[in-house]
Amino acid sequence: MSSKPITITKPAIPASSYSPHYVSVSISPPTGSLLQEHLRRTPSLGSPNVRQPKVLHPIDNEDLRILLLENISLDAVKSFQANGWQVDHHTKSMNEDDLVQKIGQYHAIGIRSKTRITERVIKAASKLLVIGCFCIGVNQVDLVTAGKAGIPVFNSPFSNSRSVAELVISEIIALARQYFERSFEMRQGVWNKKSKGCWEIRGKTLGIVGYGHIGSQLSVLAEAFGMRVVFYDIINIMPLGSARQVESLSVLLSQSDFVTLHVPELPETRNMISGMQLAQMKQGAYLINNARGGVVDIPALISAVRSGHIAGAALDVFPHEPGANGAPFDDELNRWSSELRALKNVILTPHIGGSTEEAQRMIGDEVSGSLARYLDFGSTVGAVNFPEVDLRAITAEQPDHVRVCHVHVNQPGVLKQVNEVLSPYNVEKQYSDSKGDVAYLMADIADVSPQDVNRLRELISKTSANILTRLLA
Ligand SMILES: NC(=O)c1ccc[n+]([C@@H]2O[C@H](COP(=O)([O-])OP(=O)(O)OC[C@H]3O[C@@H](n4cnc5c(N)ncnc54)[C@H](O)[C@@H]3O)[C@@H](O)[C@H]2O)c1
Repeated sequence: MSSKPITITKPAIPASSYSPHYVSVSISPPTGSLLQEHLRRTPSLGSPNVRQPKVLHPIDNEDLRILLLENISLDAVKSFQANGWQVDHHTKSMNEDDLVQKIGQYHAIGIRSKTRITERVIKAASKLLVIGCFCIGVNQVDLVTAGKAGIPVFNSPFSNSRSVAELVISEIIALARQYFERSFEMRQGVWNKKSKGCWEIRGKTLGIVGYGHIGSQLSVLAEAFGMRVVFYDIINIMPLGSARQVESLSVLLSQSDFVTLHVPELPETRNMISGMQLAQMKQGAYLINNARGGVVDIPALISAVRSGHIAGAALDVFPHEPGANGAPFDDELNRWSSELRALKNVILTPHIGGSTEEAQRMIGDEVSGSLARYLDFGSTVGAVNFPEVDLRAITAEQPDHVRVCHVHVNQPGVLKQVNEVLSPYNVEKQYSDSKGDVAYLMADIADVSPQDVNRLRELISKTSANILTRLLA
């Protein structure tokens, strides 16, 4: 794609709506009981003795428009509107043809998992600067084409960790007490009070495979219930609380009453729990999978539950999952589906691990923050398809400073050309990084007169590797 002139303006944004990352505050922390008093007296961000980040504006004049599809949270809508941006909010997704027709008017788009941003859509997106996926996955976007067009893509991969960890705790108790079975029987009119094979979880061992965002949260929650926690991870990780890292998966399997999986789906984790690993688990242990469907060999699990070696299981993810609510979960989708559904004390849920209102709100906050930081400050930290670059803020005391945001093809000689253009000025700070074919340079330059600004942008846009050049002032 050739260079895109960017023509945006918007009203001033209150500094308080931005990340403290951009604020340099020098306050000595108080000690002990004086804390409350100190907090009351701590100057607000608007007070004169705090160095304020300057609110940057794109140079040209056109209202920034953002298209939000798939019912993205109204909090996100409000925060964009508070920035003075024009927001078009739709509850449904859009098909490719409609998107191709409409996308040319917008500078930013927010989607969830149903809207596909294809190469055709990106080619029609002549003004598009940034894509926000208000969800975990980004498979619905052609990331390579977006990157080559100078469009960073942001998502929110970890906002739902707590929701998943809480679901696992509930599953551990449900399996130990068999209450899904009892509830199912009651619904069929059968009273079946029993204690055989039902346990407290206090004092039992939880084995966590993958001690990342979810696994480590779960570790803390499980210890609060009096469980002993062991974990296995391919990297050495500082355990939280009294948890203990074990040296191999087989050690974890042989010690745990409950085994729960929190690893990513990778070639190495495909079927990482199969017949051999199930046999290594303790007699009467339980297996929980909230990670990805391919991590467990389900026919092997079916055999292990049927034989009684595994006392129960909870599965939230499956190798093939229906594309829409109401669609059948049957043998056509996964050939073993009816055998799995017939097992006792096996909890099946439709990939709801991260589905809570709190997680949705956090996703909304995180992705809208990333979009605002990119559009206002040029920061690409957290982008999935783009070099991650950020600069310390220009402060309010630096009125003649201009920030150059230059996306270019990753090839030799680009910095020489750009720095030649910048050479008459004092380059206060500069940072550049690359990812694949795309490179991104941010530079703050001092003492730029308003007359020089457009000329500067024009000269940089004309350099041979230019994809997109924005100036913020
Ligand atoms: N059910 C749901 O709704 C839901 C929601 C969110 C996340 N997830 C899934 O949960 C999984 C974990 O998410 P997370 O946010 O904790 O990820 P994370 O990246 O924070 O942690 C994953 C951990 O697994 C470890 N790991 C990688 N390969 C391993 C291996 N072969 N053996 C042992 N450990 C290994 C990593 O070192 C890392 O510590 C992901 O697959 C994610 O897709 C599911």
